[in-house]
Amino acid sequence: MARETWATRAGFILAAVGSAVGLGNIWRFPFITGQYGGSSFLITYLAFVALIGFPAILVEFVIGRRTERNPVGALRELGSGAWSSAGWLFVVTGFVILSYYSVVAGWFLRYTLIGITEGFTRADPAAAETLYRTVATGLDTLVFHALFMLLVIGIIAAGVRRGIELSVKVMVPAILVLLLGLAAYGFTLDAASAAYAYYLSPDFGTIAANWTEILPAAAGQAFFTLSLGMGAMITYASYLGEDRNLASDAAIIATLDTLVAVLVGFVVFPVLFTVGIEPGTGGPGAIFVSLTAAFAGIPGGRILGVFFFAMVGIAALSSAISILEVLVSYLIDEVGVARVPAAAAVGTAVFLLGVPVTIDSIFLSLYDGFADGILLVLGSLLLAVFVGWVVPEFGRDELGKGIADIGGLDDAWIWAVRVPIVVVVIVSLYLGIVDY
Ligand code: PHE
Ligand code: NA
Repeated sequence: MARETWATRAGFILAAVGSAVGLGNIWRFPFITGQYGGSSFLITYLAFVALIGFPAILVEFVIGRRTERNPVGALRELGSGAWSSAGWLFVVTGFVILSYYSVVAGWFLRYTLIGITEGFTRADPAAAETLYRTVATGLDTLVFHALFMLLVIGIIAAGVRRGIELSVKVMVPAILVLLLGLAAYGFTLDAASAAYAYYLSPDFGTIAANWTEILPAAAGQAFFTLSLGMGAMITYASYLGEDRNLASDAAIIATLDTLVAVLVGFVVFPVLFTVGIEPGTGGPGAIFVSLTAAFAGIPGGRILGVFFFAMVGIAALSSAISILEVLVSYLIDEVGVARVPAAAAVGTAVFLLGVPVTIDSIFLSLYDGFADGILLVLGSLLLAVFVGWVVPEFGRDELGKGIADIGGLDDAWIWAVRVPIVVVVIVSLYLGIVDY
């Protein structure tokens, strides 16, 4: 059977945006930003998206488009056997990320349901914390994790066009509409200006004093949020089947993803400031505790909360499918397994790997720290070294296809891949490992 391709240009872009926009923007970004001092983190992160994120997307795109293969096969085709082991790293990373991603996505489904059925009634943070505890671990958590994985498996089993492309055409616009509505609401809150000040005025002193923490966190976040370092963008680009301007596609994707992350801050921080909660205390669960407490305390909080949690659930789904697709495309291309059994088998394995996370949240920090602080960064490093130093001629040639007038873009790009990505990644990998 011929390998599938996207039906439309918009289909590819929406799928890539759907992959990028996810828990990374809405759950991870606010708590990491809070943790590392608000605006100081934001500015470092924005610089990294432009300097290393954008060129790194193109690295994955050129590999995928040229080879029309899954990441393991793609690297084997372009490089020697040793490089296909780098592809294996992606398979491992995909398993780890999707397993905890699905558990957290399940929390959002659960909070959406709670909002619909009983509303958010626990304005007192201690009560909101109790609720969070019951959502975060336990049998129900396992059930929601299973439900979410079933949705992911269902979409991937349906294929590139009928599954991924069709679903992102609904999901991505829905995310954007909900988010714009929520940000407009955030703007009307009394505490909005104080929140914006916290969020938007950079404090270079803080960056200088804490760079050993801010730098790896911001680099990791830049890769995570753009779905880089594990072959998701390689896989999606492998379904392109035509030469078009990859640079402009990458720019659209990076811009939309960044816009979503920044807009989420425009929702979350005003809501928190309105009820007097200090952002950045308490890690991954904090956003749930403080937001549910806040939704209980502000006018229209219930509907706001339902829209917010539903938006995150949808965004998580459109990202999760891109992770499962990496694993499934590997089985289809390399092992010859049919799509439906491949999706079911891998999805089940991912589900099992996530089970510990539903039992004790310590596994969440472990999985997330390992995947984001080490695996994704390492994956991006290998890809940058490969394309920038091992096969740069291929990279330039492939980038040039579909671009009428490349100007100096290919030179600028190849040097961005050779030096900034490699340097930033090695430094943050070092600092990240020390920290982990
Ligand atoms: N980019 C996604 C997010 O921000 C997460 C992701 C990482 C998806 C890696 C695919 C691959 O939530
Ligand atoms: Na993202």
